[in-house]
Amino acid sequence: MSKHIALGVDIGGSGIKGAPVDLRTGELTEDRYRIPTPQPSTPDAVARTVAEVIARFEPSRKMSVGVTFPGVIQDGIVKTAANVDDQWIGTNLRQIIRDYAGHDVVVLNDADAAGYGEFKYGAAHERDGSILLTTLGTGIGTALIVDGTLVLNTEFGHSEIDGVEAEEYAAESSRERHNLSMDEWIVHLQRYYSEMEKLLWPDLIIVGGGVSKHSKEFLPKLRLRAPIVPAELLNQAGIVGAAAHAHHVHQRNADAAKAAEKKAKKHRH
Ligand code: BGC
Repeated sequence: MSKHIALGVDIGGSGIKGAPVDLRTGELTEDRYRIPTPQPSTPDAVARTVAEVIARFEPSRKMSVGVTFPGVIQDGIVKTAANVDDQWIGTNLRQIIRDYAGHDVVVLNDADAAGYGEFKYGAAHERDGSILLTTLGTGIGTALIVDGTLVLNTEFGHSEIDGVEAEEYAAESSRERHNLSMDEWIVHLQRYYSEMEKLLWPDLIIVGGGVSKHSKEFLPKLRLRAPIVPAELLNQAGIVGAAAHAHHVHQRNADAAKAAEKKAKKHRH
């Protein structure tokens, strides 16, 4: 496969999906492959399934592979698990996937991947300024991109509004959980996004997650300073963003290694 291709894998509550991505366009180069998320979704079972998805596309040793996870990830390690089993906390996800897949991977938060995807190829295409992406699903995921730099692991879905975590009433799942009509839910959305504006002053807000398909029903009703627009990559954002971010990380590491070598050479002379 060409050097313009990276593989993205998205770990979700119901499915683990992956596909190769053309990094020049952000398009999938093959149909995505989906395996239902194993139940119980233990780290081992999930990592084994991710490895199966990766194997399907037979990536070359050099190909970048990015994998998303719905929690905070630092140095490949899962730090939070708001909507998945607590036993995930402390798991070295990068390591166990590498063990099962025999291939190195970059792991990152699911909303960070979606935000990066929208920045590279979607609703915020290479825009400067401060861009806030929110995914409204079971929880609320957020990604903050400032002048092209993804600020990893923002968790603004857990900011408190009237002493309650925002995702309790503004995530998509809250509509069913609290039996909210569309208008009632919009009141919660308005409060949430107003709070985000007060704290972050983004230049653009993007709304992703399954609900972005129905954005016409609620986005025009929100009153905000910044433009608020639906995500464009829809359910591919995670895969595309994971692939692009993995490529970016490898590129950055390779550049840093080259610079260090050059410096060392200079010192020797
Ligand atoms: C988690 C985030 C995640 C989001 C969407 C939240 O509950 O804390 O890390 O990005 O759900 O899956």
